[in-house]
Amino acid sequence: MKLFLGVSVLACAACFCASTPSEAPTGFDNKTNGMVDDATHAVDQGKFDEVEQVSDGLGPLYNAQSCSECHQNPTSGGSSQVSELRVGHRGPHGKFENPEIPIARSTEIIKGRSLVNDRAICPSGAFPGTEIQERVPDSEHIRTFRVSGNILGDGFVEAVPDQTFVDLAKEQCNKSHHKICGQVLYVPIVEAPGQTAVGRFGWKDQQASLLSFSADAYLNEMGITSRLQPDEVTNLCNTVQEPNDQPGADGLSDIDHFARFIRAAEAPARDTQLAATSKAREGEKLFSKVGCNECHVQTLTTAAAGTKLNGGTLTVPAPMANKQFHPYGDFLLHDVGTGDGIVQSMTEHYGKRMYSVTWKGLSIPEFENSANKIRTAPLWGVRLHSRLMHDGASVTLLDAILRHKGEAEHVTEKFEKLKSSEKDALLEFLRSL
Ligand code: HEC
Ligand code: HEC
Repeated sequence: MKLFLGVSVLACAACFCASTPSEAPTGFDNKTNGMVDDATHAVDQGKFDEVEQVSDGLGPLYNAQSCSECHQNPTSGGSSQVSELRVGHRGPHGKFENPEIPIARSTEIIKGRSLVNDRAICPSGAFPGTEIQERVPDSEHIRTFRVSGNILGDGFVEAVPDQTFVDLAKEQCNKSHHKICGQVLYVPIVEAPGQTAVGRFGWKDQQASLLSFSADAYLNEMGITSRLQPDEVTNLCNTVQEPNDQPGADGLSDIDHFARFIRAAEAPARDTQLAATSKAREGEKLFSKVGCNECHVQTLTTAAAGTKLNGGTLTVPAPMANKQFHPYGDFLLHDVGTGDGIVQSMTEHYGKRMYSVTWKGLSIPEFENSANKIRTAPLWGVRLHSRLMHDGASVTLLDAILRHKGEAEHVTEKFEKLKSSEKDALLEFLRSL
């Protein structure tokens, strides 16, 4: 009897262990989260850090020469002060329309994207008469900047089931009596034509897959085409074979290395010294008390090992499975009064050929509804950002908080009613994230 009891207690403890999520590894030490070995991770980081040249396919229009030029603080994959420019205008029916940017003495018009590239490879020695610099016409009266975000830990975010975000949106809406209702947006998985998933990356939740995002960024930030984004923004002064990103000896293209680098990275680490102070601990309680955590959700959990994601193209590996992490974000779109009015461009993010595919559950009106919404900025690593909010226009944490209106208005009011020592404590907590 005794033995029997002992065994059953053990069995029970074992099954408890299996279902209790463990903590995702954190750090800024360039180690992996266990998905690959450190040597493989270093190779992938090398690709992420590589400075591309015109001979590699850089441009014709671009913003920077490497991923890490914009994702670098305090190490590759972090954030930076670099911002990109997006513009557009409202059409006759008041709907957002992408800009029309003339290049090459107005002989070509760049359409179908809200992004404006700040750099170009021409005019050059090879093409002295080709003028392709993009400049914003005065008629494009909607204008904004978007700062480069952190991508460390995004492998865990990718591994969260869609249903978690759907449930979160419902729960916060019920709990707040419809004051805070995050929007879920289904977006195409470019590597799985026809399939969609809940968008979670980018200021507008424009991607769900890190591979799709990598191809999007490689084309739109660096001008490098790949198998997923095979069409150049302009064919002027182009000389390199298409797609520019060709598989290496290991069969992997650069976009595969970028996606694996991000997936295998550790999550951002807290400032543990500051986090342990009584002031920061009090601030953490106030953060929840005033309701910041309704959107800046502390903890999410990844799916079970073997779960299929991204339209069946990605399987959650054991080291990423059933992991708890602390992004302080819900990855949902909200109107907190800071919206820039820009509806994301379909062809820019999902490719010029996206309309030749029927995407499951893709809703253009849902995209249009998000014109004035921004994804809740995940606050992990926020102490390492010098310019806050999507446009980088808030340079202190307090300024960023006070800009929250719309869905967050009642929370901001509660924050404003705190005693000044309590506000200090809440800010100290943010400085520990
Ligand atoms: C010129 C600067 C710049 C370069 C170069 C750049 N990015 Fe980004 N990145 C950004 C900005 C800005 C955002 C936010 C974009 C948005 O949502 O509008 C971003 C967002 C991301 C995100 C989403 C992060 C999140 O959690 O929302 C990923 C993933 C990413 N970039 C990957 C890459 C990869 C891979 C490369 C290299 C191929 C790259 N980026 C190159 C500026 C850059
Ligand atoms: C209704 C949802 C919601 C609530 C409630 C909310 N936030 Fe936010 N928060 C957001 C969104 C959305 C953004 C991004 C806005 C933008 O970039 O324009 C954001 C951005 C931020 C940023 C800037 C982070 C960065 O990396 O740029 C900070 C800091 C912040 N929030 C702190 C707070 C604090 C503190 C509270 C409570 C007093 C709070 N938020 C309440 C949704 C919310």
